[in-house]
Amino acid sequence: MTGQFTVRRIKAFRPRFAELVDDALDRMEQAGGPVDLMTAYALPLPSLVICELLGVPYEDRADFQRRSDTMLDLSLTMEEQLANAIAMNAYMGGLVAVQRSDPGENILGMLVRQHGDDLSDEDLTGIGNLLLIAGHETTANMLGLGTLLLLRHPDQLALVRDDPTVVNGAVEEMLRYLSIVNNGVIRTATEEFTLAGQVIRKGERVVMSLPAANRDPALLSEPDRFDVTRRPSAHVAFGHGIHQCLGQQLARMELRIALPALLRRFPGLRLAVPYEDLRYRVLAPVNGVLSLPVAW
Ligand code: HEM
Repeated sequence: MTGQFTVRRIKAFRPRFAELVDDALDRMEQAGGPVDLMTAYALPLPSLVICELLGVPYEDRADFQRRSDTMLDLSLTMEEQLANAIAMNAYMGGLVAVQRSDPGENILGMLVRQHGDDLSDEDLTGIGNLLLIAGHETTANMLGLGTLLLLRHPDQLALVRDDPTVVNGAVEEMLRYLSIVNNGVIRTATEEFTLAGQVIRKGERVVMSLPAANRDPALLSEPDRFDVTRRPSAHVAFGHGIHQCLGQQLARMELRIALPALLRRFPGLRLAVPYEDLRYRVLAPVNGVLSLPVAW
């Protein structure tokens, strides 16, 4: 699927994304503050994008957003998770059936056209679910927590708002500093080796803490300091190696456009509740703020 997510493909989608951003900002402006930035901006944008790319009807968002929230809630029982997975598969299975009979101009349609004989309906359902969840949960939480981080650092917020040359580096620094995905895909050791004095045997499973790696003093100096003007580091917020994030160019494009556009439209953007009152996702593989009331 990498062909669908190349820098070139993502670049072609930029004008459409800029339109979606403007529409969302217009709606926020018309509604007037305070609004919850998560529901007004951070969640709708990546959801709209992945729906368009994948071929998922955006009208269904309330249901699939609820199901993916449930999937990422690690406090639920196995029975609750299983019931949710069955509902997710039934929904995506229905979309796959539609694309099988009439493949559209979207990723599912492309997979049917180009690889339809090799991929079963279960394969396509799995791919569709993975992209739908990964495509909106992650970027949405980066937009929410990223905005909060900038609001806590007004001097750096001003740089991101006013200096277009800072934006790309700022997004990398936010990805590193926030490290919203706690650990990458679990790997299995194919041979015995020793890492930092710890013997890892063949067949053992290895979980890597991405936030710890991204705050490693061996990676950069003063890792706990947030600085949008740093030279971008080789962070691992998107993982590493063959399984590193498929959607990273898409996520970067979305963050590079959506963050400065929000700050420029509302130069007086501020939290509408005390910082101490904010609540965060806990027991979830992706960090985030539950709601982010803002005014301007
Ligand atoms: C800021 C946003 C995002 C972050 C921080 C993020 C982070 C990650 C991380 C840490 C991994 C595991 C990589 C590894 O273990 O080496 C991953 C995998 C993946 N991500 Fe993302 N992601 C983001 C956005 C997206 C988007 C927008 C999409 C899809 C449109 C996406 C699709 C995927 C897929 C399909 C994988 C699995 C790749 C594989 O197993 O080969 N991600 N992501």
